[in-house]
Amino acid sequence: MKIKYIILTLLTLSTLAFCANADSAIWGKDLVPNILAYDKEGSLELGKWFTVLQGKYFSLGFLAIILGIPTVFLIHYLIIGPMIFSHDRKKIHVFTIFHRIIHWIAGFSFIVLVPTGFVMIFGTTFGGGEFVRVCKELHAISTVFFAIAVIPMLLMWLKEMLPTSDDIKWMMIMGGYLNKRKDPIPAGKFNAGQKMWFWLCTVGGIVMIATGAAMYFQDFELEIIAQLGLSQIDFLRLSAIIHNILGMAVAALFFVHIYMSVFAIKGAIHSMITGDKEEEEVEILHSSYYKKLKENNKI
Ligand code: HEM
Repeated sequence: MKIKYIILTLLTLSTLAFCANADSAIWGKDLVPNILAYDKEGSLELGKWFTVLQGKYFSLGFLAIILGIPTVFLIHYLIIGPMIFSHDRKKIHVFTIFHRIIHWIAGFSFIVLVPTGFVMIFGTTFGGGEFVRVCKELHAISTVFFAIAVIPMLLMWLKEMLPTSDDIKWMMIMGGYLNKRKDPIPAGKFNAGQKMWFWLCTVGGIVMIATGAAMYFQDFELEIIAQLGLSQIDFLRLSAIIHNILGMAVAALFFVHIYMSVFAIKGAIHSMITGDKEEEEVEILHSSYYKKLKENNKI
């Protein structure tokens, strides 16, 4: 138990120390080519927006995520603490081997994508140069792995991730995470929070792949760009803006996902390895799903 407090405290302190050094990242624009300077074709208005967002607000947003989210988790962990479910009852098989392989590919790709993305955003703080260039290539390589996983993931969980009336009830009580009472929570196999993460990381993930590819390859001409009536430079700017906004949301929910899976629900991580969940966890956190399994004599 104590080791977790220490890890969370160190995490928060290290992000604080990092952020203290990040002033140049907030104001520094040297990684951000000031496209306005040489842009003759693009829209001046979009160019201004791009420069302001890219030069200042995106760094601030990412900084808020990297600093704010671990702090909120630390407070949650210290005040409310993890949910602990009995490990003495039955195990319920929820994830097939196929689910788990796809999930691990996505997981590993994100473990590289998220930190390397942060390094690029705060490139100045990291001194620019070779280290940032290597991170950029690693970011691109891990995107290929994510691209392999994203469509199977979208298809394998699609049906169970569609919205239901349970989702509204779940949101009204904030998923029951603000207390440790073991009241049954209205949710099917996946709750509203998990559904949000799913849709963001799959549909949002596909948009991130497309906008990321646009920025990585840069020099290409696509019929669609012309049909949209965009100059190539404006297409790049829009890609960067969309990629950064979605990137903030994905990074934030990825941190939430890791906190929930590793810290907040004790033992939840096992389902990623064995495919099994504890009966009590399903009974409480996914009560509608549990009822259905019972009715159909599946457990
Ligand atoms: C290494 C990092 C990761 C860990 C430790 C992790 C852990 C877990 C665990 C334990 C579950 C089951 C939770 C439950 O059903 O109650 C889960 C589900 C899921 N994971 Fe991950 N995951 C990781 C990375 C990812 C990534 C990168 C993606 C997508 C890009 C992803 C997408 C999902 C989705 C959509 C679900 C089903 C809904 C949910 O539980 O949120 N996971 N993950």
